[in-house]
Amino acid sequence: MAATSKRGAFGSRLGFILAAAGSAIGLGNIWRFPYTAGQHGGAAFILVYLICVVVICLPVLFAELAIGRASQMSPVGAFARLAPRSPWPLVGALGVITGFAILAFYAVVAGWTLGYLGRALVGRFAGAMTHDQSVAAFDAISGAPVVSIALTALFLTLTALVVRSGVQGGIEMASKILMPVFFVLLVGLAVRSMTLPGASEGLRFLFHVDLSKITLSVVVGALGQAFFSLSLGMGAMITYGSYLSHDERLPGAAFSVAAADTAIALLAGLIIFPALFAAGGDPSGGPGLVFVVLPSIFHQLPLGGVFAAAFYALLAIAALTSTISLLEVVVSYFVDEKGWSRERTTWLVTFACFLLAVPSALWGSFLDWQSVIFGNYALTIGALLICLFVGWKWGVGSALAEIARGGAPLPLGRVWGLIVRFLAPLAIIVILAGVVGLIPGVEF
Ligand code: PHE
Repeated sequence: MAATSKRGAFGSRLGFILAAAGSAIGLGNIWRFPYTAGQHGGAAFILVYLICVVVICLPVLFAELAIGRASQMSPVGAFARLAPRSPWPLVGALGVITGFAILAFYAVVAGWTLGYLGRALVGRFAGAMTHDQSVAAFDAISGAPVVSIALTALFLTLTALVVRSGVQGGIEMASKILMPVFFVLLVGLAVRSMTLPGASEGLRFLFHVDLSKITLSVVVGALGQAFFSLSLGMGAMITYGSYLSHDERLPGAAFSVAAADTAIALLAGLIIFPALFAAGGDPSGGPGLVFVVLPSIFHQLPLGGVFAAAFYALLAIAALTSTISLLEVVVSYFVDEKGWSRERTTWLVTFACFLLAVPSALWGSFLDWQSVIFGNYALTIGALLICLFVGWKWGVGSALAEIARGGAPLPLGRVWGLIVRFLAPLAIIVILAGVVGLIPGVEF
């Protein structure tokens, strides 16, 4: 396809799966999932999360990939091509803004992983550390303005270096080898954590569901987290779908991405909570949770310092394959729509993003706020609009035909149509209406 090759495309189906999984798997799984689950009571949150993934997010993932592949364009252009002379491209624009804003806080947390990597390399995780020492170590990185800002800048620069060189050279290669290694390491850490004395309490926290704990705030948190974790609602998957050629089979690829992402989030829970309870920590500790808990696992491992270094290096790479997709959405907008050069756009956008990242690097509360507004609500609203677009404007039939073009039609296509047209939009609207207080009697 001429259009495809001019814009760059994935070299293989496996390359696409790994890149999309690379976008999905990142700090959302290892950092954000455990602390939001911890703040929302554990098992109840996880149950709602899993339901959201299957019933709402997976259908939205198919919708985004279909839009991308049918249009072969990045989000704004994609909507313009499928619905010419309509306001729908604004949904793409919302995605570009959301991606930019998410990158601005995500890069700060990613910078912390580099800080931890640096410490691991100089052997700081080899010896025993009390809980208080671990908290102090976290504060020394996240609470030191110069360190935090410098690490953010470093991480954004790494992201820009990959995005600048385009889809295949950069994105595909980074995902291919390193993600499987990361998975193996995570399984090892989960096993160690679950066999610590006192770990069973953590497992109880993860799996013993108390239905009375399911409040509206748990549902909003879980739904938003599910969109965040699967990179949905802002066009990252539209963009990656656009680099996929028409004759690839979509459904299996999308299933694998969602399954891998969910498995890794659950694994992160299995690493964090048993160790947390074994050490007597508080699950609602917020964004520092993972950074504070992990050192206590490393020092209980033989060669803990080596594991620590490997872990933070791989976590940084997992974060990198996610920041790449965030930056790629913004950059490809200017490249595709405005005709700017990739190189110049990449550096310009990266610098602007750095400026927006500074307040998050300085104040944890600003980071939290950005994570809720953009990482949760903006994605949820974006996903709602994407469902409405596919269900009521572009058409379920057209989307199903696009998916089937690769030779593998979507299983349960009719059910999918009903979800995209009715169930998902209604569920999201009811949840958001509850939050803004339009439904009387629903308590946040
Ligand atoms: N899904 C990524 C993660 O879990 C974050 C992300 C969100 C990436 C939205 C792209 C778009 O780390």
